[in-house]
Amino acid sequence: MRADTVNIALPKGRLGDKVYAVLEKAGYGCPELPGGGRRLVFETPDGAARYFFVKPSDVAIYVERGAADMGVAGKDILLEYTPDVYELLDFGVGRCKMCVCGKPGRKDDPSSTLRVATKFTKITRDYYAGLGRDIDIIHLNGSIELAPLLGLSDVIVDIVETGATLRENGLAPLAEVCDISARLIANKAAYKFKYNAVAELTNRLQAVLEGRS
Ligand code: PRP
Repeated sequence: MRADTVNIALPKGRLGDKVYAVLEKAGYGCPELPGGGRRLVFETPDGAARYFFVKPSDVAIYVERGAADMGVAGKDILLEYTPDVYELLDFGVGRCKMCVCGKPGRKDDPSSTLRVATKFTKITRDYYAGLGRDIDIIHLNGSIELAPLLGLSDVIVDIVETGATLRENGLAPLAEVCDISARLIANKAAYKFKYNAVAELTNRLQAVLEGRS
């Protein structure tokens, strides 16, 4: 085993597949990976990189605690949990928007506290604090779109990618909170102690993303 192998936490699923395609182009492919079944750990033949597939929302935890040297996490997770990691580059995949959504044409009444349902309580608090708007946060874990339909909340703050989930539930985006995409992150100690390997991987990825290789 090489001492400078870079351990990388990748999100399982569609986003991970897109990210892996970029890593492969950058020269960090694993021949056994496509169709690798349920295996969770893969290493490149030259030992330059080792991949762990984890739940997307767990990537930042692996990297922050040093179980992985690097990882790829959505900007939503980085804004929500503010892990103590370096953000090195924007992968440009997994693009979507964090939006306030509700019944189409809903007008805000600033005289009453706004009830907001979301999985992203920090992002939501920060957004409304910036507007100076009083809110009552309702933390949910999924199927957020149901909350305004059932009168549990006035609006939701959630991720909108294609907009299909909103449309199929009679809701619409009312305001944009921020842009989201997948980011390459690094553990702070690994960035120092494996600097050459981390920098090479980052530079090669950047070259692929900029179309230089
Ligand atoms: C996200 C989000 C929306 C949906 C938006 O859910 O919470 O429900 O995607 O995508 P669309 O605009 O393309 O319809 P996700 O699939 O991540 O599942 P979860 O919220 O249930 O975890």
